[in-house]
Amino acid sequence: MKIVVGNHKAYLDSDTMDKFLLDIGALNSNNVIICPSFIYLDRFKDKNILLGSQTVSNYEIKATTGELSAEQLKSAGVDFSIVGHSERRQLLHESIDDTNIKIKQLLKNKMIPILCIGETKEEKDKGITKDIITKELDGAFKELSLELIEKVIIAYEPIWAIGTGITPTNDEIEDVVKYIRDYLNDSYRVANIILYGGSVNSANIDELNKLSIIDGYLIGGASTKADEFKEIINKCK
Ligand code: PGA
Repeated sequence: MKIVVGNHKAYLDSDTMDKFLLDIGALNSNNVIICPSFIYLDRFKDKNILLGSQTVSNYEIKATTGELSAEQLKSAGVDFSIVGHSERRQLLHESIDDTNIKIKQLLKNKMIPILCIGETKEEKDKGITKDIITKELDGAFKELSLELIEKVIIAYEPIWAIGTGITPTNDEIEDVVKYIRDYLNDSYRVANIILYGGSVNSANIDELNKLSIIDGYLIGGASTKADEFKEIINKCK
């Protein structure tokens, strides 16, 4: 069984969300985590799946207009949160220190962070993917105990594969994920859950499922199409 995380980003509006919920039906899956926009979290209450958010506030203080704290999310039934997504790092200039703070806020509230790491196309071409990943892991895990580090789910998401329809070959994914596993074991003595993300869809899921080194997927676009997402879920049982 693989873990399937759906990252809805800002794709759905009220009407398309109604249709999604109708088409997706009763999921009842303990390996599926859906991360809808904050405003739609409540609509998943009866789906019997796990709920995630797409980000979380850096702040604990309550006078933070427009923010949603880990404490608030937890009290709304959210147990997971994506952190360090490349879209937020690129568009909103979130830094690795921000990611570190968010991870701490989540863990403090007994939530599980889903940490996104991965290289750009330029970094891949320069052959520095593993350096980038090492830096991202060390930055995200700063000042955390090993016990807490091990709770973090890691999503290896090559930035050039996100939303592009291009996926790395299985050998390429295996090479990087093996590096992540070895690095975590050698430097931290931990063994984390590791997902792959970036243009996962119903057409490539069979090929990706051949990879035993990954524990599941972080899926953007395809997770907002009910039929396609159901097909992926069925293939990950
Ligand atoms: P994608 O997005 O599946 O649309 O490529 C993945 C992600 O951003 O997590």
